[in-house]
Amino acid sequence: MQKPKQTKANQRVMSKIIVPPIKSQGIKTKLVPWIMEVAKVVNKKRWIEPFLGTGVVAFNSGFQEGILNDINPHIINFYRQVQNGEITPLKAKSFLEIEGRKLSEANEEGYEHFRYIRDRFNQDFDPLDLLFLSRAGFNGMMRFNSKGCWNIPFCKKPNRFNQSYITKIVNQIANVKNVITNKWEFKNKNFTEIISLADENDMLYCDPPYFGRYVDYYNGWTERDEEILFEMLSQTKANFILSTWHHNDWRENTMIKKLWNKFNIVTKDHFYHSGGNLENRKSIVEALICNFEIKRISQHNHEAANKKQSAQISLFQTFN
Ligand SMILES: C[S@@+](CC[C@H](N)C(=O)[O-])C[C@H]1O[C@@H](n2cnc3c(N)ncnc32)[C@H](O)[C@@H]1O
Repeated sequence: MQKPKQTKANQRVMSKIIVPPIKSQGIKTKLVPWIMEVAKVVNKKRWIEPFLGTGVVAFNSGFQEGILNDINPHIINFYRQVQNGEITPLKAKSFLEIEGRKLSEANEEGYEHFRYIRDRFNQDFDPLDLLFLSRAGFNGMMRFNSKGCWNIPFCKKPNRFNQSYITKIVNQIANVKNVITNKWEFKNKNFTEIISLADENDMLYCDPPYFGRYVDYYNGWTERDEEILFEMLSQTKANFILSTWHHNDWRENTMIKKLWNKFNIVTKDHFYHSGGNLENRKSIVEALICNFEIKRISQHNHEAANKKQSAQISLFQTFN
């Protein structure tokens, strides 16, 4: 798959995206315009996102009312504190300046202080320490071990928190704070408890861990989870959009044929630049699956929603 050139128009669209202050390998920043193009086909009152992650999709959704949920308590604590004013751009600025200076002066080219913040976070789970780890960790990754503790090494840049980097992060907090209304509820539950809250007034955007791909403590995802999600989305009165992967150069997502084919599907090539293992550095075909009519949205080169699809997908099967 050849990577398309970034056009000026594309760059303009991307520059308007609200980028969250915390990072994660599954972040959907580049797919936001496409997701919102589909979401805007229907007109709904409330945005519900059971698998919030960094929050980039919700922050760009334009909805005044929302239920934002993640099973990872650290992400939810962070955004609750932004919402209730415990974390302000100013407080984050002074925190990052102090800890950034200590990082630049610490032994082992900064590692000693990174370890200090990591250990402090793993005891107290302070959201500002999460911010520090997220922005000083390797490759913008977020991973927790079986005890729920931070498990990503240092990016090995002792001068990480220079003035322009701090300004960038502080602006990201300010931008996010601007769009979080007091009608956004942050929750820390299993997705099943959130999907059951949705009704016909809601747009339900689901971005679960991708089945058959990356896992960590908060991102375990079994075939049974996918089936439960399918059953709940099949019954919901809300309109839903599900993000998942369709195929890559080696294999297809078997869940598409097994479960999701009865819904409408559009696909798009996507290029990942983060992730520790080699496969995550390659391209993938992303899918959006929804329970409403999306005829006017381009189905892309993969034509996943029409009948030619089965012939095309079988080509990929031969590589399994
Ligand atoms: C692929 S990420 C979402 C990425 C997000 N859309 C973004 O752009 O940053 C999946 C998220 O689902 C959460 N998650 C995993 N299992 C869950 C469950 N059973 N219930 C709720 N959230 C879950 C993970 O903690 C993770 O943040």
